[in-house]
Amino acid sequence: MDAGAQDTDGRLGRPHTRVEGPDKVTGRALYSSDLTGPDRDTAHAALVTSAIARGRITGFDLAAAGRVPGLLGIFTHRDFAGAVAPVKHLMAGGYANSAHRPLDSDAVAYAGQIVALVVAETREAAEAAAGAVRVSYASEPAAGGFDAPGAETVGLAVLKPQHEDIARGDAEAGLREAAVRVDAQYETPVQHHNPIELFTTRAAWDGDRLTVHEPTRYVGAVQHGLAAQLGLDPDRVRVVAGLIGGHFGSKFALSQHTALVALAAKRLGRPVSLVPSRRQGFTIANYRPESRHRLRLGADRTGRFTALVHEAETVTSRFDPFVMEGAEVSASLYACPNIRTEERAVRVDRNTPGPMRAPPEVPFLFALESAVDEMAVALTMDPIALRRLNDTAVDPVSGKPFSTRPLMACFDAGARAFGWSRRVPRPGSMRDATVRDGPWRVGLGCATSVRPAKIAAATMRVRLGPDGAAEVSCAHHEIGNGITTLLALGTADGLGVPVERVTVRLGDTALPAAGISGGSSTTTSLMSALALGCGQIRDALARAATGPGGRLAGRDPGTLRLAGGRLAAPDGTRIALAEAVGPAGVETLAEFVPVGGDRETALAGLRRGHIGLAFGGGGRALSWGFGAQFAEVHVHAETGEIRVARLTGAFAAGRILNPLTARSQLTGGMIWGLGSALLEETVVDGAAYRNPDLAEYLVPTAADAPEVEALLVDDPDDQVDALGLKGLGELGIIGVNAAIANAVHHATGRRIRSLPIRLEDVA
Ligand code: MOS
Repeated sequence: MDAGAQDTDGRLGRPHTRVEGPDKVTGRALYSSDLTGPDRDTAHAALVTSAIARGRITGFDLAAAGRVPGLLGIFTHRDFAGAVAPVKHLMAGGYANSAHRPLDSDAVAYAGQIVALVVAETREAAEAAAGAVRVSYASEPAAGGFDAPGAETVGLAVLKPQHEDIARGDAEAGLREAAVRVDAQYETPVQHHNPIELFTTRAAWDGDRLTVHEPTRYVGAVQHGLAAQLGLDPDRVRVVAGLIGGHFGSKFALSQHTALVALAAKRLGRPVSLVPSRRQGFTIANYRPESRHRLRLGADRTGRFTALVHEAETVTSRFDPFVMEGAEVSASLYACPNIRTEERAVRVDRNTPGPMRAPPEVPFLFALESAVDEMAVALTMDPIALRRLNDTAVDPVSGKPFSTRPLMACFDAGARAFGWSRRVPRPGSMRDATVRDGPWRVGLGCATSVRPAKIAAATMRVRLGPDGAAEVSCAHHEIGNGITTLLALGTADGLGVPVERVTVRLGDTALPAAGISGGSSTTTSLMSALALGCGQIRDALARAATGPGGRLAGRDPGTLRLAGGRLAAPDGTRIALAEAVGPAGVETLAEFVPVGGDRETALAGLRRGHIGLAFGGGGRALSWGFGAQFAEVHVHAETGEIRVARLTGAFAAGRILNPLTARSQLTGGMIWGLGSALLEETVVDGAAYRNPDLAEYLVPTAADAPEVEALLVDDPDDQVDALGLKGLGELGIIGVNAAIANAVHHATGRRIRSLPIRLEDVA
């Protein structure tokens, strides 16, 4: 049978609610810290984190902590120095979300660094004792951000050798020749992911076997990283993640605290469970670093771009190579003969940043798409018409084609649904007294969203029993994106069994290796592995049935179909599934590797827990998801209060496998985009975060959320990968901040170039 043959006209492509939804809304769903159940043997840990940003620990006063009833141990660098071997950052060929090792010495590298791990009989006792630990420090000056004395600015290639700034044509000449120019600076703030589920870890030893329960979106990296840190054979480390209560880009690799919990469990001879506080989550995990951009655009009188220069700086830590690079997307988005990018990293005394939902596009496209809107205003041109004029079917940098380029189709569909035609171009000229009482100005804005499609190798076990029960399993994760549902639907289609008979097992290194749940690559990678696995099972059954002595002997195995619990030939002859499958059932291991990569290298990397994301399109073409974002804002003429009334997005992201969960992801992303425009900001004061909780770190609530509509635009793409999938987990958030800022400009005539936009900016 042909591998893809069975996947048409089935459940995939039609809306389906989440198979794990009922468990989630009734409280039966299990997250990592639930998985082991109530267990009197487990001891509980709490963290002490540093009060200074840089310097040395000079002493501990543990007297008060020592009097807390139920205390089992207080571990500091005096106990654990040298116990954790160095492991490199995931993005540098290692496993960690930061190579920094707390409790390895008396050095303090940033505010909120772990300085002690306290273990007690109960969580309450551990927290009480941790709160009673007194640490004394010798403090040194710390650089907390851009322009701070001591901050070190380096070209991106210093930290990431593969990085190349882009230079095509002569950008300065293109700017000189331009009839109209935009030259502006934009800023985006520090943001923290704040998933509802905290960064928990439970470690238990059985002899020299270690089992860790942790909500991570890469169990393989945690397994191999821990093994390297603790000098264990990776086969003796099992990492289990339950359902994941949000990550948004955090939980992406081995955390610093995991090995410390494992070491404490070893010393105490008991399982140890850590649930760090939300406040601690701001410094023991990662965050989106602040960025600043200078955008220069030149255009001729008709609006055709003559030059684009994107210079950007983002913050990173002193000790890791993580950088948020993103000007590549700006450079390739619009037709332009003269392009230059320059990216720098600014190293400061803070914890290491990391990916956060659509890591580079959210800040970088805020800058670019604001500048494009400024250019439209300067040209007195409609911003959609300006984008249409500069649309391109080929990448202006490499000359490669886009595998599909439905950007303007997204703008057309979005503009229609949004009612763009009623927009009066002149800023400050629209009011709509019917919407709200009082002097509200109305603004309509738009912006582009794009996200390169990514795909990774994945292995998956697929099993079909004689009773029609099927099971798929792999060491990937349900992060809330609906992959469990897609795998169930895809198995039902691929093996011709009811959805209810499919069991999906994920989140455990005991299952076949799969990569990181990231880069919006989950659907592309896992559904590719599943199609391969189901095809292998159908092939095996068809070959057995048509072989010598088989009930369908003599038929062409390629014409057989597996459906409705039968294996059927086109002439109407059929055999029951139980007979086709046999009493033992049939099982296969699918090993999927994206085209363009070396098979053995990809599979070996996967089995060692390395990151292996590749771009869709296999190197022949640029394969991107596209979107057009539209926002209607109401700005109070006297107080400056900004309300987003409506968000409309139209998105094209290859084949859509479940329109219901796809729309949920997109609308969720759009509301996040609203947060990115108006609310989210971690305030850095000195080198410390001053609002590390959900009372003062603002995210959109139900009352902030406007009417949100996500439209899906057809995007058949036969080049991106065999199944035509692009993934859209992160597409929905991108460009919303620019669409809102552009709408604020349209409402008020005020161009706000620094996020988040506050009422004092427009009052
Ligand atoms: Mo996404 S934050 O690139 O996994």
